[in-house]
This record gives sequence, C-alpha cells and structure tokens, in this order.
Amino acid sequence: MRHLLDILDFSTEELDELIAKACDIIENPDKYAEKCRRKKLATLFFEPSTRTRLSFEAAMYELGGNVIGFSEGRSSSASKGESVSDTIKVVSNYADIIAMRHPKEGAPMVASMVSSIPIINAGDGGHNHPTQTLADLLTIYREKGRFSDLTVGLCGDLKFGRTVHSLINALSRYSGIKFVLISPEELRLPDYVTNNVLIKNSIPYEETTDLLEAMPKLDILYMTRVQRERFFNEQDYIRLKDSYILTPDKLDNAKADLCIMHPLPRVNEISVAVDNDPRACYFKQVLNGKYMRMALILKLLEVE
Ligand code: NCD
Repeated sequence: MRHLLDILDFSTEELDELIAKACDIIENPDKYAEKCRRKKLATLFFEPSTRTRLSFEAAMYELGGNVIGFSEGRSSSASKGESVSDTIKVVSNYADIIAMRHPKEGAPMVASMVSSIPIINAGDGGHNHPTQTLADLLTIYREKGRFSDLTVGLCGDLKFGRTVHSLINALSRYSGIKFVLISPEELRLPDYVTNNVLIKNSIPYEETTDLLEAMPKLDILYMTRVQRERFFNEQDYIRLKDSYILTPDKLDNAKADLCIMHPLPRVNEISVAVDNDPRACYFKQVLNGKYMRMALILKLLEVE
C-alpha cells in the first residue's frame, strides 16, 4: 500500500505517469466516470480549505465514487481530545482512502503508521503540500512543456509556505533548474530546505528581497500569501503582509512567456488587474489540481 506524504514519495517516472493519466482524463473524461464506483474517499480537514478539499471531493465524484468527512477539527472528535491515530484507525473502517490536512507538521506521517488505507497529505502545518505540487507540475507541464531548464522565482512567505517547500523538492530533481528566492529577511526559506535540498543537490539559487530586479530572468513566478495563521504575533504579520504586491506595471520587464502561478487563496499579493494578463495561470492551476487528484486517487487505489 502506498501513501503520499511527501512529493519525493513518487519518482520522477511516477510523476510523469500521473501527468500522462491526468492528460488522458482531460481528453477522455467519460472513460473514468465509473472507475471508483462504490469506493469512498474520506476528507479529514483539521484546518480550513476551499480548493484542496473541494477539488478532492470533485475528483472522487468525477470518478464515480463517494465522499465522507469533515471540514474542521471542531466538528470532529478531535475537539473532545481524540488523537490523530485513533481518528485514523476509526476512519480506516469506513473509507478506502483518506485525504487529510492538519496544522501539525508530520500528522499525516503519524496517520500513515496506523492506517490500513492510503493516506494523502493535503497539507501539514508549514511543512509540505504534495498535492498542490501535483497541480503545479501539471500547470508547468501544460504551459512550458518541460520541467528542466527553467528559472523559477518563488516570492512571498517562503518560511511558512508549505507549497513552496514541496515544489522546491519536486523541481530539484530536474536538470537546469535555478531558483530565485524572493522574500523579506524574516520569511526566508527555512535552513532545512536550503541545506537538505538546494545545497545538498548543488542546485543554483539566489536569495533577494527585490522582486523587480529578479523579474526579467524568470520563466515562472510563483507568488504566495503571507501565512497569517502560522505567525506568533499579529504585529509581525501586519508589518510583512504587503511586502509584495504584483501589479501590471511590475510585469513590464517580465518575459513574454512568463508563467505566473499562485496556489491560492490570494489576499493582496496579486492585484486583480493581473488576472487578465495571458501570463496569469493561477486559475488554470486550480483546474489542473482536480485532474491530478483524480490521477492520484486512481494510482493509490490501484485502479487500472
Ligand atoms: C495553500 C495551502 O493550504 O498551503 N492553499 C492551497 O491548498 N491551495 C496555500 C495557502 O494557504 O496560502
């Protein structure tokens, strides 16, 4: 039995297979409409979500399956003090596969140790978010046609932004990748990612606070929200929240084929005026996420 806790749980060949499967689903949705008949997905969300939870649910329905679950810890027995392990042991009796999101780093790992069904990490604290990375990879593939030889700018809250950590891990396995890490000092990429991923694999990267200066070299600009819920004090959040606001004029020196991404939700970091720019890909990312989650569910349930 396989789980998806970290994007590195899948080889690059397996990621290629998932992308090929997602593309086939896009072309031939009817072929997949009954693939998960009588199967149940449990969505256990101990933390808020719009896209991730609803796209998992939509994915399972489009595969002909059913969904059970909860959308906040408060409405589950976690509020009575039940442990993650006990919740998972219970839900393993009701469902065939679990997608869970939890504010604590490592919670899905704990879940996988006691689960009799596949566990998908739908975000654990400020750590990882591998299924967002699946959405990001399909977007890059459809927009750029490759994962190699790209200069990727990551901008915003690189410290707490779990989507960034998973994306760096994923892209670090391809050749010719360069990262430009754009953040305020206080929100720099954590040392464990810089050391264990970038330095260890000799991936070229630069750190800067200046988005405008970085802009002309980028093939991809991945904007992120400042993660308010992970701050220890509100003053720091207020001081840092508007560090970067992408507006149309800031794109004047950008490449004509720049791909602008954002995992969403957006707060202020991309002005709505950018949405009309053909380089804005963040709403395409949302749809790609559903197709990749369909492909993922099929893979983990070993449905042919
Ligand atoms: C992201 C997350 O939950 O980490 N959202 C998402 O799943 N698309 C990004 C965020 O909350 O900022």
